[in-house]
Amino acid sequence: MALNVVIMAAGKGTRMKSSLPKVLHRLAGRPLLHHVMGTTRALAPSKTIIITGHGAQEVEAAMADSGATFVRQMPQLGTGHAVQQAVPALDVKASTTVVLNGDVPLLRSTTAQALAQACDGRSLVLLTVALDDATGYGRILRDDHRQVLGIVEHKDATEAQRAIREIYTGSLAAPTEALKRWVGALKNDNVQKEYYLTDIVAMAVADGVPVITVHPDSETEVLGVNSPVQLADLERKFQRLQAEQLMESGVRLADPARLDVRGSLVCGSDVDIDVNCVFEGDVSLGDGVRIGANCCIRNARIDAGAVIHPYTHIDGEDTGVTVGPDARVGPFARLRPGAVLGAQVHIGNFVEVKNSTLAEGAKANHLAYLGDATVGARVNYGAGSITANYDGAHKHRTVIEADAHIGSNCVLIAPVTIGAGATIGGGSIISKDAPAGQLTVARARQASLPGWQRPQKTVKKD
Ligand code: UD1
Ligand code: MG
Repeated sequence: MALNVVIMAAGKGTRMKSSLPKVLHRLAGRPLLHHVMGTTRALAPSKTIIITGHGAQEVEAAMADSGATFVRQMPQLGTGHAVQQAVPALDVKASTTVVLNGDVPLLRSTTAQALAQACDGRSLVLLTVALDDATGYGRILRDDHRQVLGIVEHKDATEAQRAIREIYTGSLAAPTEALKRWVGALKNDNVQKEYYLTDIVAMAVADGVPVITVHPDSETEVLGVNSPVQLADLERKFQRLQAEQLMESGVRLADPARLDVRGSLVCGSDVDIDVNCVFEGDVSLGDGVRIGANCCIRNARIDAGAVIHPYTHIDGEDTGVTVGPDARVGPFARLRPGAVLGAQVHIGNFVEVKNSTLAEGAKANHLAYLGDATVGARVNYGAGSITANYDGAHKHRTVIEADAHIGSNCVLIAPVTIGAGATIGGGSIISKDAPAGQLTVARARQASLPGWQRPQKTVKKD
């Protein structure tokens, strides 16, 4: 079934008290509108139209890759007026048009699909829900046979109508041709002097078009974001849902209320995650991986059996980070883009690794920097040692071959190669290649001066 989707995103979002357009505020790390686009994509519409108004340029720029068509609504004269602007852009061959709200991020694609299917180019379908407190919403009016007669907005409703608990959630599906006709005939003779999209319901009834209601699986799906409080509430609800999905697949969370997944987290079996961890972008955790408390992990692959100790920061940015099987990282470690750790690698406290490969069993356990380095198997990289990879203009590589031992507090000035099995004496500044198998020391020779006296304070006598 060919389909149009119209997403209304022109409203101001006054209660957010923010210069950022409301639909660009983030839920689980992504703009609200991205979530709505995710739902929309699952419908595979032939045309998606986003109605922009407030902050139009910013919204359009943020959604430039979405494949949607933008239609501007200036000024904003109501939801019906918004859909009027979309009419010329609708795909006329698509007999069903779904209208969604840009600030309702958690609508499930199955619910949106149910709307479209129930419409089937013939009926007007409203997504409705019964609320304990319906204040502010449009109420669904029905006759004695439960047939829908129309929607009355809260501000226009009588006391008796305000007692109705069934509300319109802001999402509907309509036959495209009829929708065009109806929105063209809207009037603004109401309390708010706006063109209400909801007035099309009474028009459908008058035209003899069947009006059907469908309902979401849960109330959370239809909650909108109008204020920072609502945004934070929805974030917690969404995170709770994700935590439950993870736990249902066997992941053990120390506390589901203290987990944030802002992207995709794929876990193998027997994964343990301690409190206050934040996962961003695409993260995968292999079988038996353990993540300690207070870790931030973004765009990374952690292989089976690896342990990430508390307070570790891993950020693969666009390049990614790989932690090999049974590796140990942290506490207080930092892995940056291009860090590729082999099996059983150990990275300890206050060690930073960037764009470097460490082969199986290599260790850098304390206070060190490895940048643009290729580190062989079983290398031991001493406390306080660094690769000086940047000459002020260019980055250069350091190669440390297998089984080399780098003492404490060394500076390896790249480009430089440390041969296999070499030992570098502590405190060395290495600016030339060090041969394999030998001890290389590059520091001032230790000297002791026999009979040397520490200067004494002279005491003046009168
Ligand atoms: C609307 C419904 C109401 C429903 C409620 C659900 C109407 C007249 N009323 O009311 O029945 O219960 O949603 O949340 O439709 N927008 C535009 N251009 C405009 C006005 C709004 O694009 O000129 C967009 C907003 O950005 C928002 C959506 O339309 O995404 C809804 O607008 P809003 O002002 O929140 O409508 P409500 O008064 O809440
Ligand atoms: Mg609203």
